[in-house]
Amino acid sequence: MEEINHIKKEKHNLTENVTDKKAKMNRRDFLMGAGAGAVVAAVAVAGVAELTLPNTGGVSTKTVTSTVNNTVTTTVTGTGTPSAPTLGKVVTLNINGTAQPIYVQNNWTLLRVLRDKLQLYAAKEGCDRGECGACSVIMDGMAVYSCQILAVEAEGRSITTLEGIGNSSNLHPLQAAWIKHQATECGGCAPGMIMTAKALLDSNPHPTLQQIREGLSGNHCVCGQYISIQDAVADVAGVSV
Ligand code: FES
Ligand code: FES
Repeated sequence: MEEINHIKKEKHNLTENVTDKKAKMNRRDFLMGAGAGAVVAAVAVAGVAELTLPNTGGVSTKTVTSTVNNTVTTTVTGTGTPSAPTLGKVVTLNINGTAQPIYVQNNWTLLRVLRDKLQLYAAKEGCDRGECGACSVIMDGMAVYSCQILAVEAEGRSITTLEGIGNSSNLHPLQAAWIKHQATECGGCAPGMIMTAKALLDSNPHPTLQQIREGLSGNHCVCGQYISIQDAVADVAGVSV
């Protein structure tokens, strides 16, 4: 009986371990892992748990834990060829109408380069996983999450950030409307919202209210300013609310 309890405890600990690692694996870990040639997969089927972890040595390491006939066994194997080290290159990014060469590593996001290398701080890092929209910029006319675009993917594309459409002495109409309608509280979402609204109005200058709501649906404002934000965009578009 004592042995069975011990085995149950082992299984519980192993499951927690796998769940823990999944929970802690965010998008940045994935990108870094991918850059190092690592693959992450976690499955738990019929008492078998398999987890392949990122590694730093360039060798694929796999830990397989299985429970067969109430016996828990753990096998660790290390095989494969050393993966390439993280690489980078100089790319030319066209930001706000200016082409600038900049060294980037392959796993750096466009958001990281904008903020950390080019000191363009309007795009915000909210979730860093393609959910909140705080990092939105316009790329080739479309609003995109810059946290989901690698800088190397942005080479040769036309990138516009909030800094490129207006400033405090020369506000873009959307920026002015945001102030007029008090469409911001904390301001964290405003740059991304405004860039998404700009992409919407550039492609459809006279949207319906429903189209405005749908167009902004990928941007979240935890302060709940949605009505004011909608009114600001409608004001610029000449749509009555
Ligand atoms: S920070 Fe990019 S979508 Fe949230
Ligand atoms: S104004 Fe606060 S999150 Fe948008």
